[in-house]
Amino acid sequence: MENPANTELKLLDLLRTRYSPRAFADRPVDAGDLDLLFEAARWAPSCFNEQPWRFIVATREDPEAHATLNAGLAESNQLWASKAPVLLLCTTRSTFAKNGKPNALAEHDLGLAMGNLTAQATALGLSVHMMAGINRDQLRASYGIPEDVAIICAAAVGYAGPADLLPEALAERERAPRVRKPQAELVFSGRWGAPRSVDGDR
Ligand SMILES: Cc1cc2nc3c(=O)[nH]c(=O)nc-3n(C[C@H](O)[C@H](O)[C@H](O)COP(=O)(O)O)c2cc1C
Repeated sequence: MENPANTELKLLDLLRTRYSPRAFADRPVDAGDLDLLFEAARWAPSCFNEQPWRFIVATREDPEAHATLNAGLAESNQLWASKAPVLLLCTTRSTFAKNGKPNALAEHDLGLAMGNLTAQATALGLSVHMMAGINRDQLRASYGIPEDVAIICAAAVGYAGPADLLPEALAERERAPRVRKPQAELVFSGRWGAPRSVDGDR
Protein backbone atom coordinates (compact mmCIF):
# COMPACT_ATOMS: atom_id res chain seq x y z
CA MET A 1 0.00 0.00 0.00
CA GLU A 2 1.10 3.59 -0.64
CA ASN A 3 0.20 6.45 1.65
CA PRO A 4 2.26 9.51 0.65
CA ALA A 5 2.29 12.86 2.47
CA ASN A 6 -0.38 15.21 1.17
CA THR A 7 1.80 18.25 0.41
CA GLU A 8 2.17 20.57 -2.53
CA LEU A 9 5.78 21.37 -1.70
CA LYS A 10 8.61 19.50 -3.38
CA LEU A 11 9.58 17.22 -0.51
CA LEU A 12 12.31 14.68 -1.14
CA ASP A 13 10.63 11.54 -2.46
CA LEU A 14 12.01 9.56 0.48
CA LEU A 15 10.22 11.85 2.93
CA ARG A 16 7.03 12.10 0.91
CA THR A 17 6.52 8.38 0.48
CA ARG A 18 7.55 7.25 3.99
CA TYR A 19 4.72 6.26 6.29
CA SER A 20 4.23 3.92 9.24
CA PRO A 21 2.28 0.90 7.99
CA ARG A 22 0.60 -1.69 10.17
CA ALA A 23 0.15 -4.14 7.29
CA PHE A 24 3.35 -5.99 6.40
CA ALA A 25 3.78 -8.35 3.47
CA ASP A 26 4.96 -11.88 4.19
CA ARG A 27 8.39 -11.22 2.71
CA PRO A 28 11.73 -11.42 4.52
CA VAL A 29 14.31 -8.62 4.56
CA ASP A 30 17.69 -9.52 3.04
CA ALA A 31 20.54 -9.66 5.54
CA GLY A 32 22.51 -7.22 3.34
CA ASP A 33 19.64 -4.73 3.51
CA LEU A 34 19.56 -5.03 7.29
CA ASP A 35 23.30 -4.27 7.34
CA LEU A 36 22.56 -1.13 5.33
CA LEU A 37 19.88 0.02 7.79
CA PHE A 38 22.27 -0.23 10.73
CA GLU A 39 25.05 1.38 8.69
CA ALA A 40 22.73 4.33 8.02
CA ALA A 41 22.01 4.59 11.74
CA ARG A 42 25.73 4.34 12.52
CA TRP A 43 26.56 7.38 10.40
CA ALA A 44 24.07 9.69 12.11
CA PRO A 45 25.49 12.73 13.90
CA SER A 46 25.49 12.71 17.70
CA CYS A 47 26.42 14.99 20.59
CA PHE A 48 30.24 14.65 21.14
CA ASN A 49 30.07 11.77 18.63
CA GLU A 50 28.94 9.58 21.52
CA GLN A 51 26.74 7.35 19.29
CA PRO A 52 24.57 6.47 22.30
CA TRP A 53 22.14 4.29 20.33
CA ARG A 54 22.10 0.52 20.83
CA PHE A 55 19.76 -1.83 18.98
CA ILE A 56 18.55 -5.36 19.51
CA VAL A 57 17.31 -6.98 16.31
CA ALA A 58 15.10 -10.04 15.85
CA THR A 59 14.07 -11.49 12.49
CA ARG A 60 11.46 -14.10 11.66
CA GLU A 61 14.24 -16.39 10.42
CA ASP A 62 14.84 -16.96 14.14
CA PRO A 63 11.27 -17.51 15.38
CA GLU A 64 12.27 -17.74 19.04
CA ALA A 65 14.11 -14.41 18.96
CA HIS A 66 11.22 -12.78 17.08
CA ALA A 67 8.72 -14.14 19.63
CA THR A 68 10.81 -12.79 22.53
CA LEU A 69 10.85 -9.25 21.16
CA ASN A 70 7.23 -9.45 20.06
CA ALA A 71 6.22 -10.53 23.60
CA GLY A 72 7.69 -7.26 24.91
CA LEU A 73 5.37 -5.14 22.73
CA ALA A 74 2.07 -3.78 24.01
CA GLU A 75 -0.76 -6.10 22.99
CA SER A 76 -2.24 -3.38 20.76
CA ASN A 77 1.04 -3.34 18.83
CA GLN A 78 1.47 -7.12 18.77
CA LEU A 79 -1.78 -7.29 16.79
CA TRP A 80 -0.01 -6.01 13.69
CA ALA A 81 3.72 -5.89 14.48
CA SER A 82 3.95 -9.65 15.02
CA LYS A 83 3.66 -10.01 11.21
CA ALA A 84 6.65 -7.77 10.50
CA PRO A 85 9.72 -9.76 9.39
CA VAL A 86 12.07 -7.65 11.52
CA LEU A 87 11.61 -6.19 15.00
CA LEU A 88 14.02 -3.75 16.61
CA LEU A 89 14.45 -2.60 20.16
CA CYS A 90 15.92 0.91 20.31
CA THR A 91 17.85 1.96 23.40
CA THR A 92 20.37 4.58 24.47
CA ARG A 93 23.30 4.62 26.86
CA SER A 94 22.27 7.30 29.37
CA THR A 95 25.79 8.53 30.23
CA PHE A 96 28.85 9.68 28.28
CA ALA A 97 31.47 6.92 28.05
CA LYS A 98 34.37 9.36 28.62
CA ASN A 99 33.24 10.85 31.96
CA GLY A 100 30.10 9.04 33.16
CA LYS A 101 28.08 12.28 33.11
CA PRO A 102 24.42 12.13 32.05
CA ASN A 103 23.89 12.51 28.31
CA ALA A 104 20.78 14.68 28.04
CA LEU A 105 20.87 14.42 24.25
CA ALA A 106 20.99 10.63 24.01
CA GLU A 107 17.34 10.22 23.06
CA HIS A 108 17.62 13.09 20.59
CA ASP A 109 20.54 11.31 18.95
CA LEU A 110 18.71 7.98 18.82
CA GLY A 111 16.00 9.90 16.96
CA LEU A 112 18.57 11.06 14.41
CA ALA A 113 19.85 7.50 13.99
CA MET A 114 16.28 6.26 13.51
CA GLY A 115 15.71 9.04 10.98
CA ASN A 116 18.75 7.82 9.01
CA LEU A 117 17.66 4.19 9.34
CA THR A 118 14.15 5.06 8.17
CA ALA A 119 15.36 7.05 5.17
CA GLN A 120 17.65 4.19 4.12
CA ALA A 121 14.79 1.73 4.60
CA THR A 122 12.50 3.83 2.42
CA ALA A 123 15.15 3.94 -0.30
CA LEU A 124 15.20 0.12 -0.22
CA GLY A 125 11.40 -0.09 -0.52
CA LEU A 126 11.09 -1.00 3.16
CA SER A 127 8.93 0.63 5.83
CA VAL A 128 9.56 1.31 9.50
CA HIS A 129 6.84 1.67 12.14
CA MET A 130 8.12 2.81 15.55
CA MET A 131 6.39 1.85 18.78
CA ALA A 132 6.43 3.54 22.18
CA GLY A 133 3.91 0.96 23.36
CA ILE A 134 6.27 -1.62 24.85
CA ASN A 135 6.76 -3.34 28.18
CA ARG A 136 10.14 -1.93 29.27
CA ASP A 137 10.50 -3.97 32.47
CA GLN A 138 9.81 -7.20 30.63
CA LEU A 139 12.25 -6.32 27.84
CA ARG A 140 14.95 -5.29 30.32
CA ALA A 141 14.62 -8.63 32.09
CA SER A 142 14.42 -10.73 28.88
CA TYR A 143 17.59 -9.23 27.42
CA GLY A 144 19.54 -8.42 30.59
CA ILE A 145 19.69 -4.73 29.64
CA PRO A 146 21.84 -2.77 32.14
CA GLU A 147 20.29 -0.01 34.28
CA ASP A 148 22.33 2.76 32.61
CA VAL A 149 20.67 1.94 29.29
CA ALA A 150 17.29 3.56 28.60
CA ILE A 151 14.77 1.51 26.65
CA ILE A 152 13.15 4.04 24.35
CA CYS A 153 11.01 2.33 21.72
CA ALA A 154 10.69 -0.60 19.35
CA ALA A 155 10.25 -0.63 15.59
CA ALA A 156 8.72 -3.00 13.06
CA VAL A 157 10.51 -3.18 9.70
CA GLY A 158 9.38 -4.84 6.49
CA TYR A 159 7.61 -4.40 3.18
CA ALA A 160 4.28 -2.62 3.50
CA GLY A 161 1.38 -4.81 2.42
CA PRO A 162 -2.24 -4.11 1.46
CA ALA A 163 -4.49 -2.81 4.26
CA ASP A 164 -6.88 -5.71 3.79
CA LEU A 165 -4.27 -8.00 5.39
CA LEU A 166 -5.37 -6.37 8.66
CA PRO A 167 -8.42 -6.90 10.88
CA GLU A 168 -11.09 -4.38 9.78
CA ALA A 169 -10.62 -1.87 12.65
CA LEU A 170 -6.90 -1.60 11.91
CA ALA A 171 -7.44 -1.56 8.14
CA GLU A 172 -9.67 1.50 8.58
CA ARG A 173 -6.93 3.34 10.48
CA GLU A 174 -4.44 2.31 7.79
CA ARG A 175 -6.59 3.89 5.06
CA ALA A 176 -7.31 7.10 7.03
CA PRO A 177 -5.82 10.32 5.64
CA ARG A 178 -2.47 11.31 7.15
CA VAL A 179 -2.66 14.68 8.87
CA ARG A 180 -0.12 17.21 10.09
CA LYS A 181 -0.21 20.52 12.01
CA PRO A 182 0.28 23.58 9.81
CA GLN A 183 3.80 25.09 9.78
CA ALA A 184 2.40 28.23 11.48
CA GLU A 185 1.82 26.17 14.64
CA LEU A 186 5.34 24.78 14.58
CA VAL A 187 7.69 27.50 13.36
CA PHE A 188 7.89 30.93 15.01
CA SER A 189 9.75 34.10 14.20
CA GLY A 190 10.58 37.12 16.39
CA ARG A 191 8.47 35.99 19.33
CA TRP A 192 7.29 32.70 20.76
CA GLY A 193 4.00 31.82 19.08
CA ALA A 194 4.37 34.37 16.26
CA PRO A 195 4.33 32.45 12.97
CA ARG A 196 6.85 33.48 10.35
CA SER A 197 5.22 34.73 7.17
CA VAL A 198 4.83 31.98 4.60
CA ASP A 199 3.60 31.72 1.04
CA GLY A 200 0.07 30.47 0.91
CA ASP A 201 -1.76 28.73 3.74
CA ARG A 202 0.52 25.96 4.91
C1 LIG B 1 8.66 7.28 18.85
C2 LIG B 1 7.38 6.81 18.21
C3 LIG B 1 6.54 5.96 18.90
C4 LIG B 1 5.37 5.46 18.28
N1 LIG B 1 4.61 4.54 18.96
C5 LIG B 1 3.59 3.92 18.30
C6 LIG B 1 2.91 2.82 18.91
O1 LIG B 1 3.21 2.38 20.03
N2 LIG B 1 1.90 2.22 18.20
C7 LIG B 1 1.55 2.65 16.94
O2 LIG B 1 0.63 2.05 16.33
N3 LIG B 1 2.21 3.67 16.33
C8 LIG B 1 3.22 4.31 16.97
N4 LIG B 1 3.93 5.32 16.34
C9 LIG B 1 3.58 5.72 14.97
C10 LIG B 1 2.93 7.10 14.95
O3 LIG B 1 1.59 7.00 15.42
C11 LIG B 1 2.99 7.64 13.51
O4 LIG B 1 4.35 7.89 13.19
C12 LIG B 1 2.21 8.94 13.38
O5 LIG B 1 0.82 8.70 13.54
C13 LIG B 1 2.42 9.58 12.01
O6 LIG B 1 2.11 8.67 10.98
P1 LIG B 1 3.17 8.36 9.83
O7 LIG B 1 4.43 7.83 10.49
O8 LIG B 1 2.53 7.32 8.95
O9 LIG B 1 3.43 9.65 9.13
C14 LIG B 1 5.05 5.86 16.95
C15 LIG B 1 5.90 6.73 16.28
C16 LIG B 1 7.06 7.19 16.89
C17 LIG B 1 7.99 8.09 16.11
